[in-house]
Formats: sequence, structure tokens, C-alpha cells
Amino acid sequence: MSLETLHQALQRFPDPETGIPLSVGKQVHEVRCDDGHVCVTVAFSSYVAPLRTELREKIAELVRTHLPEARQIDVEIVNHPRPALPSGQLGLTAKSVVLVGSGKGGVGKSTVALSLALALKRAGCEVGLLDADVYGPSVPQLTGVRGQATKAGDKIAPFDYDGIRLMSIGYMVPPDKAVIWRGPMLHSAVSTFLRDVAWGNLDFLIVDMPPGTGDIALTLSQVIPGACAVVVCTPQEVALIDAVKAVAMFQQVKIPVVGVVENMSSFICPDTGKRYDIFGKGGARQYAEEAGLPFLGEIPINIGIRERGDEGNSAANFSDPTVAPYLEKIAFQLVRYLAQKSAQSPIKAQLPVL
Ligand SMILES: Nc1ncnc2c1ncn2[C@@H]1O[C@H](COP(=O)(O)OP(=O)(O)O)[C@@H](O)[C@H]1O
Ligand SMILES: [Mg+2]
Repeated sequence: MSLETLHQALQRFPDPETGIPLSVGKQVHEVRCDDGHVCVTVAFSSYVAPLRTELREKIAELVRTHLPEARQIDVEIVNHPRPALPSGQLGLTAKSVVLVGSGKGGVGKSTVALSLALALKRAGCEVGLLDADVYGPSVPQLTGVRGQATKAGDKIAPFDYDGIRLMSIGYMVPPDKAVIWRGPMLHSAVSTFLRDVAWGNLDFLIVDMPPGTGDIALTLSQVIPGACAVVVCTPQEVALIDAVKAVAMFQQVKIPVVGVVENMSSFICPDTGKRYDIFGKGGARQYAEEAGLPFLGEIPINIGIRERGDEGNSAANFSDPTVAPYLEKIAFQLVRYLAQKSAQSPIKAQLPVL
């Protein structure tokens, strides 16, 4: 047990994004011990930024094992640039494309999609949010970011909301104009979004899907080979039936479902702190377990979430300690699972898809 064995152990430590030892990418930058004070500097990409706290803890544990005499341990994580490669035929550069779907509207799909995007961005990831809900685009409302799309060179410029790159069908169609979408139009609209928006290099592209219908999911499964899906539902039995349909729809178009989120799972009374399970309890978790799908977490019914959504100030949910931990947990759980999946197939992990 020495500084040398610690150094070797760090070199063997797998990058959670790829499963490949840190030595391969020269990601161990420094290992130093001055009079019992151990300093370690390692580099991970922004894709796994949400896992930094637990990575720091794992590395500190490694230090304690190899240098039990250490009095103070400082683990610094710096950025390891690892850009995404173009995935699929449209040239989109995003490491993971996460479709957020549900069996029906009104269950909080847009709220969850936006919250995932915000939580990942706040943790340090590069994030885009595409509102592909052609029947009821609500991202402009939830963010307060409005307007009509403009050009950036030969591409369409995304809007910015708290550092997230944003695009919505609502920015392409005048708000007072009704559009009747048919299959081929949907296909070309979605392809335009993926190909022609200047997304830049993304860790995550979150897509707010229209409820139910398989049209857009089918298009996405064809043009983005690595896309995966998160299904949002509320706990009552009738809503779960819709969630089962949404899962079946994704599975039919060969998009793996990587998580179930239970929204409006309970109401915690702000006056008394007492919990009321208005729509029942734990239904989505139980369903996910039975179906062998990862359960990412739950979000309580919270008046603040609704108010901030209506005000176009959803980012403020992250300053509310009765809401933020739930949203962060779901996003971090998703990254943990996706990283695990990609690290299990190390060859694929070097490609931009999952
Ligand atoms: N956990 C929650 N607590 C309170 N209100 C919520 C919650 N989740 C969503 N809402 C509100 O419910 C409404 C529908 O949510 P939205 O995300 O637009 O659903 P969907 O996209 O599934 O139609 C919005 O007004 C939103 O602010
Ligand atoms: Mg919506």
C-alpha cells in the first residue's frame, strides 16, 4: 500500500461513461501526497457530470484503502473533453437522445422533460430540449421563452433557457395558426429539427413527445439509432393502463424504455407536512418493477410546480427545497443507468449512441 499502488489503482479505475480504464484516456492528471495530505486530480467528461459527487467519494475510498495514514483527502474532478460523434443519418451530435413520453396528456410529461433538461444542465452537462409535441407544444409556456425561430448561418438558431438549447414546434408555427399534421409532415418536421437546428455538441437531447401516438416515435427510431425513452405516469390505475400502452408503443418501434417516472405521486401539505396520496401510492414503481424497467423516481403534487409553469419560470423549481431534490434524483438516476448501460458495451461506448 503506497502512493504507487494508489496511482495504479486509479489508472485501472473505469470511466463510468465508457467502462474503459482511466489510463487509456490519460485521465489521471495528478496523484500527490504532502505530509499526509493527498491530492488527486482526475478528468471525466461532462456527460457524467451528475455523478461527480459519487465519483469523488469512490476515489476518496480508494485513497483511504491504499493510504490509510492519509489525514486529508482532496479529490478534484476536471473536464475531460469527449465530444459526441454524429449519430444516425441526420448528423446530430448528441451522446444520448431521451424521448419523454406518456400514454396521455396532462400527466406532466413536459414538466418532467424540462426538469430533466434543467437538472442535467445545472449539474454540468450540455443539454438540448426539443419540444416535439405538435398537438400541444408547452415548452414556450413553461419557460416563458417565446418568439419565432431565426436563422444561424444555414441552420436554425436554438433558443436559450438557463443554458439549455431549446427548440419547439411552437417557434415554427404562428401561435394563432392551426396546423393539421399528417404522417409525412410530422416526419419532415422532426427531421428538420434534428438536422437543421444548430444544436452543437450535446451530451443529452431531451425530446418532449406528443402523447400516445406512435408517428413521431417511429420517425425518431429510424433516424436516431440510439434513442431511448422515459415514460411518465401518475399513480392511479387508469393512468397506469395508459403508461403500459406507451411502453408497448416504444417497444414496438424498438426504442428501449430506460425509465419510468411517477408524477403527482402524493401531496405533502405545506402547513402540516402530512402526506396525502391523492391518486394512490406506488403504482408506477410497482408496475416498473413488474415490467423489469428502471424506476427513476417520483415527483409530489406541488402548487409551486404548477404556478412556476404558468409563469414561465420552471427553472425556479430548483430553488425550492420541497421540489428540487425529487427532480435531481430522477435526472441523476437516469444518467447512472445510461452510463452503466454504455459501460457494459465498451466498444459501443466510444460511439455517440448509447
Ligand atoms: N408534480 C406536479 N405538481 C403540480 N402541478 C404539476 C405537476 N406536474 C405537472 N403539473 C402541472 O400540470 C399541468 C400539466 O403538466 P404538463 O407538463 O404540461 O403535462 P403534459 O405535457 O403531460 O400534458 C401543468 O399546468 C403543470 O404545471
Ligand atoms: Mg406537454
